[in-house]
Amino acid sequence: MKKFITLFVAIAMVSIAAMAVIADDKGPAEIKLPASMGEITFNHAAHQGRVADCKTCHHQGEGTACRSCHGIKSDAPKAKKAFHATCKGCHKEQNGPTKCKQCHTGPKG
Ligand code: HEC
Ligand code: HEC
Ligand code: HEC
Ligand code: HEC
Repeated sequence: MKKFITLFVAIAMVSIAAMAVIADDKGPAEIKLPASMGEITFNHAAHQGRVADCKTCHHQGEGTACRSCHGIKSDAPKAKKAFHATCKGCHKEQNGPTKCKQCHTGPKG
């Protein structure tokens, strides 16, 4: 029994440490999002300062790439639809950029 408890405590401590690492992972400061209209340079760090809750964008929980589902999984809307809804939706409300060329600034691809 004592052995079992020691093992349980050890596993719990490792789990808590792993969770802390995940919570600390804010992802890259700048993210390039390729698009046929022109690449978008997304300032992730600046947006983390503007938007209080990570879940405003990461609706499925913190820190999973949108493109691991959108454009890949059949139950998730296409990436263009999901990104435009998230990005332009907030920009319309908070006076962020809404014109195509204000986001699609980079080379087409
Ligand atoms: C304004 C929207 C927005 C906010 C707010 C935001 N993120 Fe992100 N985040 C993104 C986008 C977009 C990506 C790139 C997703 C992709 O490549 O598909 C990303 C990528 C990431 C990644 C890298 C994922 C990977 O596997 O490549 C991590 C980690 C992450 N975000 C963590 C966070 C955390 C933690 C917060 C809150 C402190 C946060 N994000 C707030 C939009 C946002
Ligand atoms: C683990 C898979 C997964 C990840 C990661 C994910 N999504 Fe989604 N998303 C979905 C699914 C499935 C739906 C459709 C069901 C729903 O609305 O929850 C959805 C719906 C949406 C919608 C609503 C679209 C509409 O037309 O109503 C938006 C907007 C969205 N996601 C944006 C994002 C953004 C931005 C990211 C990254 C920051 C992201 N999602 C990450 C799976 C995911
Ligand atoms: C919840 C609100 C919110 C969301 C979601 C959001 N933004 Fe923004 N974004 C803003 C605001 C507010 C500004 C304007 C900041 C200013 O002018 O000081 C901005 C500015 C920008 C700019 C101009 C350069 C900069 O960073 O200042 C770009 C490009 C941009 N956003 C891209 C995106 C993209 C791409 C997404 C989706 C992945 C996104 N934003 C999602 C609020 C948001
Ligand atoms: C607020 C920023 C923003 C604005 C404004 C914006 N877009 Fe986008 N757009 C994105 C993001 C982010 C993606 C997703 C890129 C990805 O999936 O890598 C995208 C994706 C796309 C795609 C799909 C690209 C591909 O290769 O599949 C097209 C087409 C597109 N946008 C056209 C437009 C047009 C036309 C306008 C103007 C009416 C516009 N966008 C305005 C951010 C924006």
